[in-house]
Amino acid sequence: MTVRTIITAENSLLRERSKKVTRFTPAVRQLVADMFETLEAAGGVGLAAPQIGVLQRVFIVSIPADYDEDGNEISPQEDYVLVNPEIIRREGEEEMVEGCLSVPGYRGLVRRATSVVIKGQDEDGRAVRYSGDALLAQAFQHEYDHLDGVLYLDRLEDRDKIWVIEDESDDEEGDLE
Ligand code: NI
Repeated sequence: MTVRTIITAENSLLRERSKKVTRFTPAVRQLVADMFETLEAAGGVGLAAPQIGVLQRVFIVSIPADYDEDGNEISPQEDYVLVNPEIIRREGEEEMVEGCLSVPGYRGLVRRATSVVIKGQDEDGRAVRYSGDALLAQAFQHEYDHLDGVLYLDRLEDRDKIWVIEDESDDEEGDLE
């Protein structure tokens, strides 16, 4: 596996519409493996293929494990792979704090559905379908947008609802990518 370079907002590739994956070759599995390694190195919740310059409809989401005060695991890490995804249901609406690995150093307020159902394929072409709430729903919507060349900057509630964060490592919310 290889850690790939994440491109940032000034790169016009992030504004392109990505293409459907039609052949599930080993190259697709390699892409997904590289994306997980890249996401882990960058420390985010999700990554879409166009963020590493690959204009294919592929994204991953990795929700970190949760621990109680004593350090016991409440919920394990959850990893999702979506190829050719389609959001088939959206419910609720809420303002959420959001960031993006392609827009480093910023957070903004966007309005997202609080619950979504998404379907698509995994890296082997098998059909998958997931329901997500809260952070998972937000991540599905954010990463899906990348496949259409949309950044969260386009969805800001207001032009001034974006701010600079001093130190990425100190930030506890909105660590969505
Ligand atoms: Ni992003």
